[in-house]
Amino acid sequence: MQPLRKPQNPNFSSGPCSKRPGYDVSQLDLSTLGRSHRSRIGKAALELACTKTALLLGLPEGYRVGVVPGSDTGAVEMALWSLLGPRPVDVCGWESFGMEWVTDITKQLKLENTRIFKADYGLLPPLAELNFEHDVVFTWNGTTSGVRVPNGDWIPSDRAGLTICDATSAVFAMEMPWEKLDVITYSWQKVLGGEGAHGMLILSPRAVARLESYSPPWPMPKLFRLTKGGKLVEGIFAGETINTPSMLAVADYLDALQWVEDLGGLSAAIARSEANYQAIASYVDTHDWIAFLAQNADTRSTTSVCLTLDATPDEVKAIVKLLEQESIAFDIGAYRDAPPGIRIWCGATVDAGDVACLMEWLGWAYQSVVKG
Ligand SMILES: Cc1ncc(COP(=O)(O)O)c(C=O)c1O
Repeated sequence: MQPLRKPQNPNFSSGPCSKRPGYDVSQLDLSTLGRSHRSRIGKAALELACTKTALLLGLPEGYRVGVVPGSDTGAVEMALWSLLGPRPVDVCGWESFGMEWVTDITKQLKLENTRIFKADYGLLPPLAELNFEHDVVFTWNGTTSGVRVPNGDWIPSDRAGLTICDATSAVFAMEMPWEKLDVITYSWQKVLGGEGAHGMLILSPRAVARLESYSPPWPMPKLFRLTKGGKLVEGIFAGETINTPSMLAVADYLDALQWVEDLGGLSAAIARSEANYQAIASYVDTHDWIAFLAQNADTRSTTSVCLTLDATPDEVKAIVKLLEQESIAFDIGAYRDAPPGIRIWCGATVDAGDVACLMEWLGWAYQSVVKG
């Protein structure tokens, strides 16, 4: 039977992700548009983006937050190019984005003392085998496989190397052990439903100490330069961006942060993602034709939920198309490099009622296409 009710919002893409409930572009504070980003109001907006982020996330004293070019990729690559070299590197990859950082480190930076910890889609590599005398590079939540690290218990507090964490689909949706992370990156268009444009780069005091004591032997493009004369460029972490940002995207980010604050802060944002995930888990538990791609329950992502269906790749495509035609769900096909299946975004901007509704429609679409 075709369900009666449709999701109120069919946007379940894993990036750019759905705008927050009640989002209205005309409500943004656009007073900075057409002004210099270095003007008093421009800089104040950028600085607020940094300070409000730190406050809402509850970052430890001494952690810097900066807005950088190139979205999450820009923030990660800036960190890799600026920090790596003095110690051996252990890098993890268990889906397409993590494997990009493996490529950066081994094929572009060509760091010889590198160990690669790989796992197939659905699994995590053996985290217990990482050596924290080395610098460790990993993704908190593998957006294209729906596999995340369960927590930070495997990271020692007294490590000698740095931990560099691509956390783009985790920040504002998952508990993060900030003290165990030296570099954290994310972008605005994921959990907060902001606009794609800029990356957020968060540095621990240990990461700053590395920047100020080590100068990489390779050329450093201006876009990646975090130090001048051996000192951190503190301005980058106080609203003085390296180059010109989109002030419209900044206004949109500030709106998203205000929404998180109004919701009740970080814990409320996390609770929304978990409720969304739970709506899927309850359905998967009671239907045997659908399963999580993540093989272990404690590694299942609560934002980018990847599912496999008891169906051929063509049938999966037909299901995705049918749900789109019915305006039930947009952009839920698995990532192009991932095994065939579907991926449902469950970040904070999505409503649990809509996810539960989508699951009923998915059951209907499966019956229509596969059992026809
Ligand atoms: C884990 C992860 N890393 C990196 C990226 C790339 O992010 P961006 O497009 O913001 O550079 C994504 C995008 O989906 C991602 O999910």
